Amino acid sequence: MITVVGNLKGGSGKSTVTFNLALWLMKVGRSVHTFDLDLQCTLNDVAQVRLEEGYDPVLKVGTVHQFQSEALPDDEVLIDVGTANMASMRKAIGLAHRIVVPVAPSQADIWSTQRFLYIIASEIRERPPKVILFLNRADTHSNVKESDEAEEALRALPGIQVLKTRLCQRTTYRRSFSEGLAVFELEPTGKAAKEFAALAKQLYP
Ligand SMILES: Nc1ncnc2c1ncn2[C@@H]1O[C@H](COP(=O)(O)OP(=O)(O)O)[C@@H](O)[C@H]1O
Ligand SMILES: [Mg+2]
Repeated sequence: MITVVGNLKGGSGKSTVTFNLALWLMKVGRSVHTFDLDLQCTLNDVAQVRLEEGYDPVLKVGTVHQFQSEALPDDEVLIDVGTANMASMRKAIGLAHRIVVPVAPSQADIWSTQRFLYIIASEIRERPPKVILFLNRADTHSNVKESDEAEEALRALPGIQVLKTRLCQRTTYRRSFSEGLAVFELEPTGKAAKEFAALAKQLYP
């Protein structure tokens, strides 16, 4: 299956989610190939750190050039898209079986998610991809209602699925990423590992 992880907004967690999902899939025995189509090359960078640190398994990250010029592998494919290369983003949207959209709980992020949905809809396809949204960087305090309000706003958008599962704003995502590790590798019994497994199982039942 070809899954695009996308949103127009930088910092919504595309690379973090792609990286952790890919490693989670490998952990459960799947063969995974990722592509980094963002000029920022964050996925490529974190895979490089992982390689230099000697962590197993190695994460395979294809380049924009490979994505544009070669057939996609038969593996589980995860594509991290950025906005600097719209041609590649559109091609990825055109090929995707589904598009997974991490959204941070802010009004600006909701607006840009709406715009991203317009872009997806503007790609003419025989069978439109499934679009799955979820909150990333959600508040951990139950008295902060911003995440609930954001989720409600997302649910009002047409033609999409919003997951109940959220990823919260947690330092483990940043710390693990900078070390080239998935959250469940750095802190296997931590809260981030737990919520991430719930998300991954929902996306890959
Ligand atoms: N749930 C989270 N909690 C804390 N930090 C996060 C979370 N998700 C992403 N981040 C951090 O936010 C920054 C941007 O994330 P990144 O995955 O690079 O976003 P994008 O690829 O959408 O630009 C990175 O420093 C990352 O570690
Ligand atoms: Mg990124």
